[in-house]
Amino acid sequence: MSTFARIAGLGHHVPDRVVTNDDLAALMDTSDAWIRERTGIVERRFVEDGTTCTDLAEVASRAAMVNAGWEPGEVDFIIFATLSPDLYFPGNGAILQHQLGLGPVGALDVRNQCSGFVYALSAADAYIRMGMARKVLVVGAEVHSRGLVFSDSGRDTAVIFGDGAAAACVEAVGPESGSRILRHALHADGKYARELCILKPGSASAPYVSNDHIEAGLTAPYMNGREVFRHAVTKFPAVIQEVLEAEGLEAADVDFLVPHQANLRITEAVRQRMGLPEDRVASNISHYGNTTAASIPLAFSEAVAEGKVKRGDLVCLAAFGAGFTWGASLLRY
Ligand code: UT7
Repeated sequence: MSTFARIAGLGHHVPDRVVTNDDLAALMDTSDAWIRERTGIVERRFVEDGTTCTDLAEVASRAAMVNAGWEPGEVDFIIFATLSPDLYFPGNGAILQHQLGLGPVGALDVRNQCSGFVYALSAADAYIRMGMARKVLVVGAEVHSRGLVFSDSGRDTAVIFGDGAAAACVEAVGPESGSRILRHALHADGKYARELCILKPGSASAPYVSNDHIEAGLTAPYMNGREVFRHAVTKFPAVIQEVLEAEGLEAADVDFLVPHQANLRITEAVRQRMGLPEDRVASNISHYGNTTAASIPLAFSEAVAEGKVKRGDLVCLAAFGAGFTWGASLLRY
């Protein structure tokens, strides 16, 4: 009998501390008007001292498990997507396993930045379908605020990114279940690896990291915003079309689209290209900024909590970001 996977529940968690555009304008040459017009961001959340990326993930995971009706001890695998892990190594998956007090279940870390959650979900789906796992905790979480440069030199990225976490409980279901993940499409083009990256620490040149690297800004994110934007507005619709066509569906069939929250202008361009009304497309970038691997599950979790997504709805998740990597998942919630 074939096995499928479904999202049994979602949960999210953001830090309490709200940082407005004006707060950032006090630190660097930027303005509320520039940030709103170019990105749609009004405010974002930053962690307080002492809170780690895994701490945010732990709260989000516990919320997701409550919503799914799971006991923590039932989790048999963790997949953790982040670009801002607590440590250079090991990854956050193992740290979360410990913080949740789980037995020695497997923990996989995914480094696919903005498309991290879609890649992680596809892996959970595959593990479940092949019988390797039955209850997989899939997490996307970021603490960007500690890696940004809050001065004029870092303003192009400092105003965009925010902290947050979200998790999905993905479980095995039988072929009779109408609630199931349908398919994924995943892509990468490493020709553009250095258009959006953090160069150091890294083993491409010695040493991994030095004071010179820090002074030269190599430990801060670099982003060629225009180039990323140009690719994003074409890759999002193409990969959404790819998963829909493979299922014999079209844009109008999508009950709810959850695009990665990179820029309101990108989300709007994709929404208009698909001919979807605003109430069928997730948009929370105004409150949280770009939370990278957390962005899709955070927007999805909020939409479910607000009643915008119901069981049985056709939901499409779509992402584009560093790598470049991009992808889409199609599911019946
Ligand atoms: O999730 C990961 C993927 N990331 C993305 O998808 C980001 C995609 N790209 C974007 O969202 C946009 O390119 C940005 C929001 C990053 C930038 O918007 P833009 O309209 O492409 O602006 P730009 O980079 O072309 O910069 C326009 C001007 C420049 O000044 P000049 O050269 O015209 O004098 C920048 O120096 O805005 C300046 N600028 C700023 N001004 C005020 C750059 N950052 C800022 C800032 N505040 N924070």
